[in-house]
Amino acid sequence: MSVAGDCWNIADLREKAQRRLPRGVWEYLERGVEDETGMSRNRVAFDRIAFRPRVLRKVDRVNTQATMLGTQGALPLAIAPTGAAGMMWYRGDIALAEAAAKAGIPFCISSASTLDVEEFAHVEGTRWFQLYMWENRDLSYDVVRRADATGCEALFVTLDLPVPPNREYLWRSGFGMPFQLNRRNLVDILAHPRWLAGVIGRYMRDGGLPQQANLPAELKHSVARGAKPGALFKQDNIDWEEVKKLRDLWPGKFVLKGILHPDDAVLARDLGADGVVVSNHGARSLDHSIAAIDALPDIVESVGGTMSILLDSGIRRGSDVVKALALGADGAMVGRAPLYGLAAAGMPGVERAMELLGAEISRTMAMLGLVSIAEIDRHALA
Ligand code: GLV
Repeated sequence: MSVAGDCWNIADLREKAQRRLPRGVWEYLERGVEDETGMSRNRVAFDRIAFRPRVLRKVDRVNTQATMLGTQGALPLAIAPTGAAGMMWYRGDIALAEAAAKAGIPFCISSASTLDVEEFAHVEGTRWFQLYMWENRDLSYDVVRRADATGCEALFVTLDLPVPPNREYLWRSGFGMPFQLNRRNLVDILAHPRWLAGVIGRYMRDGGLPQQANLPAELKHSVARGAKPGALFKQDNIDWEEVKKLRDLWPGKFVLKGILHPDDAVLARDLGADGVVVSNHGARSLDHSIAAIDALPDIVESVGGTMSILLDSGIRRGSDVVKALALGADGAMVGRAPLYGLAAAGMPGVERAMELLGAEISRTMAMLGLVSIAEIDRHALA
């Protein structure tokens, strides 16, 4: 049986990913910030929500098709932007994009990826683009134009990292930017020969380590070396005016990601955003931040019905997606779940992650007595 085929839930893929990756790369994928209370808070918040199922509802035909940001997909799900996919698997971002297209769901390209936005242009499915602002703002405006030119349908501006997050383990492991080789991580890397040959070895055969993407050639640096001056992400001086400029520049759907306060959701709508992502960045930005699923009801109350509301942070089961929909989200995004699949087995691992989540969504709906996404509402909850 294939590696992916032998996985029966996201937790199985996670376990295989952990075995395959060097510890430093694994920690980058898995861990949070500071005292790391956020990941368990996200999980506890989902687990506290209970369903109240109905019976005898003829659930032999469950339809999981959903519309997010005006586009219909096979599931109320999208793959979230994750910059480090290329360190989990050789050109891992492309595997994520292609697996999303195969599953019939959107893929959001990360501006922090190691592949330029143009490299995804051949992927058939719905593509979205996520933006962090570079210190030199013109670089950001330029990449926004490029994302539009390559057919990305929505721009997601991530707002929940105004300053770099405090990931102390990266200082210890050396797996930050720039990468700091030390005795400990050398032993770690050498102890994972499959990753070393299959990821780093293939890049070296291709001409060298991956570079920060979406920058002009003179500003590009290997991911091991850190950003050149001007090419650093810098978001501590962004305000609503600046975001409005991006709104005016972008012709497609415009989404603000990392919203947890209903007043910010109202400001987002008032400046012309089409959607928000209720997210605490998978507990990777501010520790002790409210769980996204706990923040959702107030946001739905203030802007629900007037803009799209997506949710991420902590989703590991299809039932989590159904809970988010029951509380008023239009769809969910998953970051770590497909990355576990990617790190475990490449593209088949991502496909397996989406297949498992899709089956869980459909099964949960049937158990609740619901046959379409439109039927999922608060009545499904206890
Ligand atoms: C970047 O967005 C990260 O969470 O590492």
